[in-house]
Amino acid sequence: CKVRLYNFRVVLTNTTKLCSSKSIPTINGKFPGPTIYAREGDNVNIRLTNQVQYNVTVHWHGVSSCFTGWADGPAYITQCPIQPGQSYLYNFTLTGQRGTLLWHAHISWLRATIHGAIVIFPKKGVPYPFPKPDKEKIIILSEWWKADVEAVVNQATMTGLPPNISDAHTVNGHTGAVPGCTSPGFTLHVESGKTYLLRIINAALNDELFFKIAGHNITVVEVDATFTKPFSTDTIFIGPGQTTNALLTADKSIGKYLIAVSPFMDTVVAVDNVTAIAFLRYNEPLHSPHLSLTTTPAINATPATSTFMDKLRSLNSKKYPANVPLTVDHDLYFTIGVGIDPCATCTNGSKAVADINNVSFIMPTTALLQAHYYNISGVFTDDFPAKPPISFNYTGNNTAMNLKTTNGTRAYRLAFNSAVQVVLQGTTIIAPESHPFHLHGFNFFVVGKGIGNFDPDNDPKKFNLADPVERNTVSVPTAGWIAIRFKADNPGVWFLHCHLEVHTTWGLKMAFVVDNGKGPNESILPPPSDLPTC
Ligand code: C2O
Repeated sequence: CKVRLYNFRVVLTNTTKLCSSKSIPTINGKFPGPTIYAREGDNVNIRLTNQVQYNVTVHWHGVSSCFTGWADGPAYITQCPIQPGQSYLYNFTLTGQRGTLLWHAHISWLRATIHGAIVIFPKKGVPYPFPKPDKEKIIILSEWWKADVEAVVNQATMTGLPPNISDAHTVNGHTGAVPGCTSPGFTLHVESGKTYLLRIINAALNDELFFKIAGHNITVVEVDATFTKPFSTDTIFIGPGQTTNALLTADKSIGKYLIAVSPFMDTVVAVDNVTAIAFLRYNEPLHSPHLSLTTTPAINATPATSTFMDKLRSLNSKKYPANVPLTVDHDLYFTIGVGIDPCATCTNGSKAVADINNVSFIMPTTALLQAHYYNISGVFTDDFPAKPPISFNYTGNNTAMNLKTTNGTRAYRLAFNSAVQVVLQGTTIIAPESHPFHLHGFNFFVVGKGIGNFDPDNDPKKFNLADPVERNTVSVPTAGWIAIRFKADNPGVWFLHCHLEVHTTWGLKMAFVVDNGKGPNESILPPPSDLPTC
């Protein structure tokens, strides 16, 4: 195994898109940022140097960071921010993982422009469990605001209103042409007869996305750096933080084919509904090849998301078995609420809030992991409720429901090595909505999914414990629930949150504390000496 060393400098970079220019924070001047290449088992060292005037942290989304929780990156959860002029060495080992993941800033909304790919190849000499592709291509989907993104968030906090939606989606940093503003858009050049492994990443802040290539089916082989049973599809559904690897066979000989990327939002309140346009183009001598068009599913095509999710199964081969916990030590039921609470300091008089089990998470001013490790009291409590405080028809007509959330920095304590089940129950308090939930520190198995309210007596009988998909981010279906299981074998403090940044901002997050306090095998190791302080 190797040590892979990367230098990431956070700098301001002038960028022009949609005919307007602004200065954006980037890593090393790149948008999207640099790709981290490594092999399974490698040790990865990233020196992050902050050369901008605000605080930064970076998260390695989906890296299990086993026993190295100090490298996970969410601000005020596992570390204090890296202040202007400071640097911090992120040090983690890629154990038991291969595939595609992403890294992104994990403070405020900086991940809008600070993000990139992590490509983990199998160990030397170990083949992929699918036909070897001729080439590999990274495709990063994202969102673009003409305005300064931090100003968008600050405005939302001040007023209590939802933040402004983005102005475009991007494919590998390109917006494609918009009326009155020419931009060539991203082109994926292919050679007839060759196969390509597409490493598709959704790095958007607030949009789950559909992705489709005209005239070509693709074969999904991996999600979130875990292998799946291969299946062919014309459209993929991908939430923020998720990755999908798919094989594309360039089985045409000529032409140009539209790649369409559009958002999924069941209840269309306010969303950036611009379809991003990119192209697949065959290398051929023709100067103006015929363009084949396609359309993605409608913005509220909930059945399309469900069909796609139901096809995802872990490979569960002899070499890559699905080790699903068959019994459960912690049985948790979390409701996901988005609502409106009174707000004396907001110019609107009320504000959008979000909660899990009626707790809207308040960010601490000291990192939870530091507070936990050094036993600093008063930073958080470990009384996060295992069940919602009141029961009601979560997915019924909740128009009269007033959320009145409680605020708190509350965590839930999991015994080291315990088996955990969390049922994430969507609610329709304001509107039915899908939420891409991300758990730090672990992969989990998606053992069940349903519409309406979870039935603890009957639904578990239908759980798939044989080959459920394994991932780190999953969409909780619109007006429905999802059940996940994982083994709490990674000591530390681990964030669980909606990966729609707007919902995270409103408090749709909580933390797990995993530690038996019994030394090196069951507890977090001491922090690195350059760990930032608050
Ligand atoms: Cu990709 Cu906590 O985030």
